[in-house]
Formats: sequence, C-alpha cells, structure tokens
Amino acid sequence: MNLGKTFVITGVSSGIGARTAELAIAQGADVIGIDMKEPASAGNNFIKGDLSSPAGIDAVVKQLPQRFDALLNVAGVSGKIGAEATLAINFYGLRAFTEALAPRIREGGSVVNVASIAGYGWRANLDRAKAMVGVQGFPDIKAVMEKNGVGNEIGYPLSKELLLLWTQKAAHEVLFKGRGIRVNAVSPGPVETQILKEFRSVLGDERVDSDISRVGRAATASDIAPVILFLASDAARWINGANIANDGGLEASINADVLGF
Ligand SMILES: NC(=O)c1ccc[n+]([C@@H]2O[C@H](COP(=O)([O-])OP(=O)(O)OC[C@H]3O[C@@H](n4cnc5c(N)ncnc54)[C@H](O)[C@@H]3O)[C@@H](O)[C@H]2O)c1
Repeated sequence: MNLGKTFVITGVSSGIGARTAELAIAQGADVIGIDMKEPASAGNNFIKGDLSSPAGIDAVVKQLPQRFDALLNVAGVSGKIGAEATLAINFYGLRAFTEALAPRIREGGSVVNVASIAGYGWRANLDRAKAMVGVQGFPDIKAVMEKNGVGNEIGYPLSKELLLLWTQKAAHEVLFKGRGIRVNAVSPGPVETQILKEFRSVLGDERVDSDISRVGRAATASDIAPVILFLASDAARWINGANIANDGGLEASINADVLGF
C-alpha cells in the first residue's frame, strides 16, 4: 500500500509508533524514526531527539531530508508530567514540528496526527480550544494556560482537544492545502502500551476500566497502526481534515450517552 514512500514517524521507540514503523517497512516504505528514547532495535534511520522545545525541534528538523511523503505524529505523553510539559509535547511542539516540515512534504503527501478519545470534549470546550490554537508558534505555555484558566489536571485531554481542532484548521491552511497536503487525525481509545499504565494513575482505574468495558477490550498497537498508514496512503486521497475514531465503538457509545440516543 505504501511501497516506495518515505515516512517520518515520531514516537517510534514504543507502542503505537513502533508498530506503525514496523508495518510501514513491511508495506515497502522507508521510515525515518524519531524518539527521545533509543528504539529496541536501532535501525540506520533513527534520529534521537526531544520534540518538547523549539531548540529540540530545530535540532531534529536539521537532520531530516528535504523531501518525504508523510509525517506521522505519534509521539505523546500521558499528562503525568503536568499540563505545561504535556501541552508542549502533545500539541504546541507537534504543531511547530509539522509547520517546520510542511514545505518538505511532497505535493499530495499527508500529515497524520494521533489524537485520542480523550479529546472528545473539543466541541464542548470550543472557545478555549479556539483561543489556545489561535496562539501562533511555540508560545510561553504557562502564560497561555494562565490566560485560559487551565488547571494542571486537564493537560492530556486539553492537548488532544487542541490537536483535533488544529487538524481541521490545518487542512484548510495554505501551508498544507496550497500543496495538496492532507492533514488528518486518528483517535484511539485505550491501547495496551506503556502510556496506558500512566493513564490509570492520571485518570484513575475506574475511567480506564469503564472505557475498556464499553468495547470489550483495550486495543493493541496493531489495531491502530494500519489506520494511521491508511490515512498516509494514496487510498485516503480524498480524506482531509478528518478524525477517524479507531476505538472499537467507544466514541459511538459515548455519543449515545451524551446525545441521548
Ligand atoms: N495507549 C493509549 O491508551 C492511547 C490512547 C489514545 C491515544 N494515544 C496516543 O498515542 C500516541 C502514542 O502513544 P503510545 O500509546 O504508543 O505510548 P508510548 O508511551 O508507548 O509511546 C510514546 C512514545 O513517544 C515518545 N516521546 C514522548 N515524548 C517525546 C518527546 N518529547 N520527543 C520525542 N519522543 C517523545 C516516547 O519516548 C515513546 O517512545 C500518543 O500520542 C498517545 O497520546 C494512546
């Protein structure tokens, strides 16, 4: 499906990113992997870097090629390290990295953002999301949080609400649309990876267990990776600005409660 393509994938040293890289290679793609931790099997195309600050992002951008087909933004953190650091990695850093690389993505290429069911509240919290996405570049995140009354405990869901809103906005921006670059999101529910253990301590066992029981099991990274790669492929050429719920039906189940059907 992705034979001959070159993908830049963040978060390749664990969980969903690792499986996505493995499957992309099996589909005949070349992968340039990025992570702050070394991968279990160090390939030639791995760049170690921390995407949480402008300096870290610049250092990685400098090492990447001038042309590639798609950027798959998989790296993310659970919120355990606090809202400021979580927003830096899961949203403001991701956006700055993507905007810096957009001119290098070939015409007709794409960006895939791994969001989450945790971003479900973006519509309910639309004014806050609009204000926080409206801040350009990589801002003073502490100041942005203060201005928008953001408490430390909501870092993770808020980061994914911003990512879902920005995915839709970016799909229409000249930087992407001007060269036919599609920007989409995939939203998993609970997935059996390292981060799930942290979600249990951040969100509580009850919330995680309730999400899992609604759909019968947690996902594995192998449930998520093919959908990320589908969105990166030419088969998804008419999908733009979309969010695919890849959660076994969790969003539909929550919709039924929230919308009362
Ligand atoms: N596992 C779940 O239940 C779940 C559910 C919904 C969404 N997600 C999202 O899926 C994505 C992947 O998560 P996962 O489940 O594979 O978790 P994971 O912890 O297994 O993998 C995340 C990877 O991102 C890397 N990373 C974190 N911060 C980084 C930084 N500053 N710079 C570079 N690399 C960094 C980590 O080193 C790690 O290898 C995340 O965006 C997460 O929010 C996960």
